[in-house]
Amino acid sequence: MKKTPNRRRTPLFEVRHSPIHGYGVFAARRIRKGTTIIEYLGDRVSHAQADARYEGKDPNDNHTFLFTVDAKIVIDAGVNGNEARYINHGCDPNCESTTANKRIFIEAIRTIQPGEELSYDYQIQRDGDDAPNVDEIFACCCGAKSCRGSMLEAAKKPRKLARRAPSRAAGNKGTTRKRVARRGGLAERSQRRGR
Ligand SMILES: C[S@@+](CC[C@H](N)C(=O)[O-])C[C@H]1O[C@@H](n2cnc3c(N)ncnc32)[C@H](O)[C@@H]1O
Ligand SMILES: [Zn+2]
Repeated sequence: MKKTPNRRRTPLFEVRHSPIHGYGVFAARRIRKGTTIIEYLGDRVSHAQADARYEGKDPNDNHTFLFTVDAKIVIDAGVNGNEARYINHGCDPNCESTTANKRIFIEAIRTIQPGEELSYDYQIQRDGDDAPNVDEIFACCCGAKSCRGSMLEAAKKPRKLARRAPSRAAGNKGTTRKRVARRGGLAERSQRRGR
């Protein structure tokens, strides 16, 4: 019997349970460094709309499908989202999120072998008024040797005060940090308390 050639290639990835958290996305075949794997899709809403959608959520619940594009746009993959919403955070990731024309793409930053879980660094933004246990709430379970223990961006080291400029340092003290969305980071938590 004549064989029909299978022209359909195996999909790049599959969604299944993850040891990191809930569902994750796993390479179904080798993915070369530089490959654009998937676009992060979902409802495109304003920060205010995103806040309103998840207003009543427990502040200790860190789960989110929101992705900040810029200071105006948030993608809510909880509505009309695709598989990209299942990619977990990793502190030693094999992917990164990139922005092009206000669209978010997940790209391989190294060659990924079949079966490997895809991850990118969420780098969730810290705020001046974070709860003392914020790192506990956003604890990371990626399992990397270099895991920083948190899905939040690395805490900034306090700047050393210049010996000759004590007044300037004092002047900066207590300044309210402007909460501006970082491009390409997973949902900026600062604007979505109660998510
Ligand atoms: C975009 S979803 C990823 C898919 C998620 N695993 C699921 O099944 O819905 C992001 C959420 O997954 C969880 N998550 C992702 N990476 C994590 C990690 N490294 N450690 C702990 N929780 C993680 C957090 O609750 C986070 O808000
Ligand atoms: Zn980690």
